[in-house]
Amino acid sequence: MNIVVGVTGGIAAYKTVQLVRLLVRDGHDVHVVPTDDALRFVGAPTWEAISRNPVTTSVHDDVAQVRHVALGQAADVVVVAPATANTIAKIAVGLAGDLLGTTLLATRAPVLVAPAMHTEMWQHAATRANIATLRARGVRIVGPDSGRLTGADSGPGRMSEPETIHREVSRMLAAGADLDGTRVVVSAGGTREPIDPVRFIGNRSSGRQGIAIALAAADRGADVTLVAAHVEDAQLDAAHAHPAIRVETAGTAAELGERMRALAGSADVIVMAAAVADYRVADVSDHKLAKEDGAPVLSLVENDDILAGLAGARRDGQTIVGFAAEMPTDHETVLERGIRKRRRKGVDLLAVNEVGWEAGFERAENAVALIGSDDQVVAEATGSKREVADALLDAIVALRSRP
Ligand SMILES: Cc1cc2nc3c(=O)[nH]c(=O)nc-3n(C[C@H](O)[C@H](O)[C@H](O)COP(=O)(O)O)c2cc1C
Repeated sequence: MNIVVGVTGGIAAYKTVQLVRLLVRDGHDVHVVPTDDALRFVGAPTWEAISRNPVTTSVHDDVAQVRHVALGQAADVVVVAPATANTIAKIAVGLAGDLLGTTLLATRAPVLVAPAMHTEMWQHAATRANIATLRARGVRIVGPDSGRLTGADSGPGRMSEPETIHREVSRMLAAGADLDGTRVVVSAGGTREPIDPVRFIGNRSSGRQGIAIALAAADRGADVTLVAAHVEDAQLDAAHAHPAIRVETAGTAAELGERMRALAGSADVIVMAAAVADYRVADVSDHKLAKEDGAPVLSLVENDDILAGLAGARRDGQTIVGFAAEMPTDHETVLERGIRKRRRKGVDLLAVNEVGWEAGFERAENAVALIGSDDQVVAEATGSKREVADALLDAIVALRSRP
């Protein structure tokens, strides 16, 4: 495999020599891309000797090979270790002033970042925000550990050990293509049921979790169709830009159901992450309801249960996954409600998350429990929506590899 190791200007750069050594030992083609500052800590001859590849920092070296994009395009994984606060900020913004910056922008490979810095820098609001941006974009973060830092300090900020980073890279490479050729349909967002031409009954689902699943599946080799219900354009940009994702849109529960049933015929995996209205307005008004007509009384009729319908029509070899946004009640936990719902829907896997005024929706982070068809929790995932997406896909791959 082809691995790019970005190295930036921190003392921990010396530990990355061991990481490169481990990756070369595994038989990978390793290209080290240091920043100029990194070379003040460990010099180019060390990186060249250990990686057995030439090392430059500038986009103006080796121009005939279009090196500024070629390294990123060819990479199977890009690792940045150590990642300084400065470089983390540059990645978050998308700066491309050196070879590491252009490589990171040109790659579609998964990216792993191993931060290393003093505790104050790590805990600074700017760094926290930059890390959140990277996570939301699907970048994996390993560490930092807590422990002895440069000088007399100690606390969180120490780069993860090379063996830990090496293990994470190996895991990412193994997961890289585990959905190769699998046809995945994902729904995302929230449906809206019209009341009149300008009003609707909707929900707070932002579509971020569904989009994260679509992106993660596509990165792992799947052919993905994303059916988006009222997802902001800005959220959809990454999905539109991904060559393995086709984006369709749906407005109401009925439209979403129609699209999902049509796509189900050729899908290997269906993930219903969209929040679908259980009810629609019985008599949608052709005219905007006016205040002088008095408070309207809306009567509602039940929508088709799309998920249960898809599960009921499941083909051999097809995997159906649902989401349940639950709140605990006086006599049932979120998990108990999820288990009951999985049975009712008949799906292979149900991802249950707790929602409330302050939890679940419109957030970058998520926490889910994945319930399997034996009513057991097969995995729990907490973190960015991308991390939750990858955990969900791990569970789907494990399920599909069972005889
Ligand atoms: C001895 C020394 C150690 C440093 N260690 C770190 C570090 O661990 N993390 C960090 O974010 N910056 C560290 N810095 C500051 C960075 O080197 C500086 O911000 C530099 O501009 C980073 O450039 P780069 O991100 O392009 O490599 C250190 C500086 C010195 C002189």
